[in-house]
Amino acid sequence: MIREECFALSDELRNLFREFHRNPELSFEEFETARKISLYLQDLGYNVTEGVGRTGLTARIEGNQSGPNIAIRADIDGLPIQEETGLSYASSADGKMHACGHDVHITCALGAARLLAGLKDNLKGSVTMIFQPAEELNRGAKEMIKEGVLETNGIDMIFGLHNHPEIPVGKVALKEGPLMAAVDRIDITITGKGGHGGLPHRDIDPIVATASMIMNLQTIVSRNINPLDSAVISLGTIHGGTRNNIIPDKVELTGTVRTFAPEVRNSIEEKIRRVVENTAATLQCKGELTYIYEIPPVINQALPKGIVERAIEAVVDKEAIAEPTPSTGGEDFSLFQEKVPGCFFWLGVGNPEIGAVHPWHSPKFKIDERALAIGAGVLANTALIAMEELKD
Ligand code: NI
Repeated sequence: MIREECFALSDELRNLFREFHRNPELSFEEFETARKISLYLQDLGYNVTEGVGRTGLTARIEGNQSGPNIAIRADIDGLPIQEETGLSYASSADGKMHACGHDVHITCALGAARLLAGLKDNLKGSVTMIFQPAEELNRGAKEMIKEGVLETNGIDMIFGLHNHPEIPVGKVALKEGPLMAAVDRIDITITGKGGHGGLPHRDIDPIVATASMIMNLQTIVSRNINPLDSAVISLGTIHGGTRNNIIPDKVELTGTVRTFAPEVRNSIEEKIRRVVENTAATLQCKGELTYIYEIPPVINQALPKGIVERAIEAVVDKEAIAEPTPSTGGEDFSLFQEKVPGCFFWLGVGNPEIGAVHPWHSPKFKIDERALAIGAGVLANTALIAMEELKD
């Protein structure tokens, strides 16, 4: 098991992290990022495949003995945000920033790759590092899976982490079951019959129907979902009309739906459709719903969760394990978990003393760099324990 070895890498990991932090690239534009990752891993003796899922890559290492194939996934994209941290290694790219800490994930995965390369002769199986592009668009995992990344490498189990600024550095938050929500999209069109605003009796007003519909949609969560389950329906855009005195023909709404339990997710489309169609019909309009299933919830199974638990104990101790409060944010890591068992967990990077308190996607987002060695060590041990655990 790895313990001191990961902390011995602290300086190298800090330098790597700062290099990636200084040079963020947006989703599906991670060319330089991928090139640096590729060079680093080739140096370590990994078998690298570039251009997987457009700008992603995989790197594989095999031990002398055959055995289970374990994957470690890290997302690599930055965000279109102007950095305001004032750090000496702040982004040098105007309007771009690693504001979700995917530079942390790259660094932890590279650190784990170095630790595992040092144990190559003793590995009882293979490890595939998956560097995924475009997580922020919910599209990178989809692309990689479509290209057969799991089948090509025969992956048996997959692991990944996300930094978390609300969890103190030194802690790692881990749980079985749902951790992050399913993310779905709704597009709604309410069609009436446009005309003069002063003569509404000759028209069919989709604006008034929309007003009712918005309020009725909010009764789904409060009246139709079991209070012990959870769901969110948020409308983000309303578009309709051209002038103050013209009743328009139609109004268009878009929104996001978040759920955890599969039975809630599977039933909420029908509940939304009922409200959309019937509210519109009551007011003589036509309501149409397009429900788009984007990404499933992150749900951790017991076996891979237990493996990460032992890895955390090996690197830090039992007390380092924190119980996370699930987030209604989404993560496309869940698409890998739909195909193979896996566990996703949160690495604490918060520290109020250095201002590492700002949430993901904030221009002031900052982390405590001491988390890097812990993340690398936990990922490396996770792969080692998984190979041991899954061998038949
Ligand atoms: Ni993120």
